[in-house]
Amino acid sequence: MENLAIFASGTGSNAKKIIEYFEGHPNIRPRLIVSNNASAPVLALAESHGLGQLVLKRASFYGSEALLEELKAHKITFVVLAGFLWLVPPYLVGAYKSRMVNIHPALLPKFGGQGMYGMNVHRAVKAAGEQETGMTVHLVNEAYDEGAVLFQASCPIAETDTPEDIARKVLALEHQYFAPAIESYLQNKSS
Ligand code: GAR
Repeated sequence: MENLAIFASGTGSNAKKIIEYFEGHPNIRPRLIVSNNASAPVLALAESHGLGQLVLKRASFYGSEALLEELKAHKITFVVLAGFLWLVPPYLVGAYKSRMVNIHPALLPKFGGQGMYGMNVHRAVKAAGEQETGMTVHLVNEAYDEGAVLFQASCPIAETDTPEDIARKVLALEHQYFAPAIESYLQNKSS
């Protein structure tokens, strides 16, 4: 059984899709929601779906490895970053090597790196006059948005699209493809 921890900082619409997608799945089960923000709406999903929840404190996230014990206690085998905005420290990357994925709202390697998250990405894409954008699912390493790409999906950008229009298109792709990309990665890994 693969037990997922979903790390998220905000709304959690991707987290919600993932939880729904894996409901009743024979060997992949979301178990825990982890957030750096005690008032993040994503934590309500833990309540409504009977999952564990954990709120991170910056000092202990970066200054100790206590989180690993918590993840072990929940038997977490795989970590999903779904709108999680803190850089993952090396001890956590090391503990979940090839077992941690992130979603990014652009076609990496374009429009990635520090400061490139949420609407910042879509504004940059618009400002660059791109004709397409999309979403990327990638493995997590120690640098922002640089791990191996596992899956990408793209969508066209019309000249009249605003950054908000672009954000809507990309989020729709994320909702459609993130959970299946996780499933196929895990299935190929174990076969
Ligand atoms: C998603 O669009 C995700 O790609 C992005 O945050 C959003 C979270 O939305 N992540 C990043 O920008 C990371 N660099 P959600 O909370 O509704 O799932």
